[in-house]
Amino acid sequence: MKTSIIIGMQWGDEGKGKIVDVLAKKTDAVARYQGGANAGHTVVINNKKFVLHLLPTGVLQNKISIIGNGVVVDIEELLNEINMLKKQGINIKDLFISERASILLPTHKILDRTKEKSRGKNKIGTTKKGIGPAYIDKYGRKALKMGDMRNKKLFIEKLKKYIHNFNNNEVKFYKIKKVNEKEFIEKILIMRKHILKYIVNTDFLARNLENKNILFEGAQGVMLDIDFGTYPYVTSSHPVSLYAFAGTGIPFRKNFNVIGIVKAYTTRVGEGVFPTRMSKIDEKNMRKKGGEFGATTGRPRNCGWLDLFALKYAAFLNNVNKIALTKMDILSDTKYINVCIGYKKGNKKIDYYPYTNELNKVKPIYKKMKSWTSKDMENLKNGKIAKPIKDYIKLIEKYTNAKVSMLSTGPRRKDIIYLEKL
Ligand code: IMP
Repeated sequence: MKTSIIIGMQWGDEGKGKIVDVLAKKTDAVARYQGGANAGHTVVINNKKFVLHLLPTGVLQNKISIIGNGVVVDIEELLNEINMLKKQGINIKDLFISERASILLPTHKILDRTKEKSRGKNKIGTTKKGIGPAYIDKYGRKALKMGDMRNKKLFIEKLKKYIHNFNNNEVKFYKIKKVNEKEFIEKILIMRKHILKYIVNTDFLARNLENKNILFEGAQGVMLDIDFGTYPYVTSSHPVSLYAFAGTGIPFRKNFNVIGIVKAYTTRVGEGVFPTRMSKIDEKNMRKKGGEFGATTGRPRNCGWLDLFALKYAAFLNNVNKIALTKMDILSDTKYINVCIGYKKGNKKIDYYPYTNELNKVKPIYKKMKSWTSKDMENLKNGKIAKPIKDYIKLIEKYTNAKVSMLSTGPRRKDIIYLEKL
């Protein structure tokens, strides 16, 4: 399989983990390029469920696994994850973390919780994993980088400066507990010992990957992108495909796929505009049937109909040429299915994807479609595609101008149907 970028096309939770896992088998390396432990990529292997937050899903296939410079690395969470996998019989071998990636410290998580609280009813609904504060430090040029760990003396000096600033600024401003310098540094240095071996030079890594096929694993989704999503109810990184190379330091390739992961309906966690949100009763049913609870936070996800207008925007922006459609089974045996084919502002149809202030005012235009049965889902395994399923796929292809190449019909590795070879 050629180099591919996998992105979530909606508001995250499209089922990327499982698709990356099955495609990782066909590639040399898997690379995370943005976000942090806010992600929750779920993979089921032999009835065992693995939820990865920070490690690239490629670790489950023993592939070269890269955490790129665009990621904010929660070192505490990373070690927990490595240990959790060890306990389940998976030993991490080929993990490489860019020395240019920023470190997410425990203080970032404290700040995330505190800031959310102070926002009151205007809260963003973050995962409280410290993502926003870690990126603020990165772009404020105050972050500690993974590469700083290499020189212990310098690292301690930088940590002291960081804690001094934290205790004199954020602690006073938010009226939170001071950090005990000695305890904090001791704790970080223990983690450093276990992590050092994974840290690599970004340029060196890129050169060694020159002739390898890479699977870039996007976290979250296009509609949560800091620039292109529903700002300010977004994450603080760039889930878009455009960032895959920038977030890893791997030079731009000439020939690659962009595989968009689309859930057959839409979900969203946290706050923010959600044009195709379902009625309370439909949402309740969908949440139950689809098991729509956050993999990282356990929060109930809001559910809505498939938004083809948003998908059209996401597909165009990201140059998506292939689609993996997930959770088709959840829509089976329903009375009807709605799909949004456009937005209306007042009585006028709009022909561009609007910015949040305007998006708040739009009304979705729905097309009612016939549902398929669980029997139809079974028949998919024998290569028979029932008409309502075909129609659904065709409509998605029409709006996205991309080929639906894969259908995921359940959580296990084998619950997958290829409609073309990838
Ligand atoms: P943050 O990334 O924790 O700062 O959260 C910002 C917004 O992104 C919130 O609405 C979160 O619910 C959402 N978010 C972050 N990560 C994910 C994810 O992996 N799946 C779905 N939503 C996410």
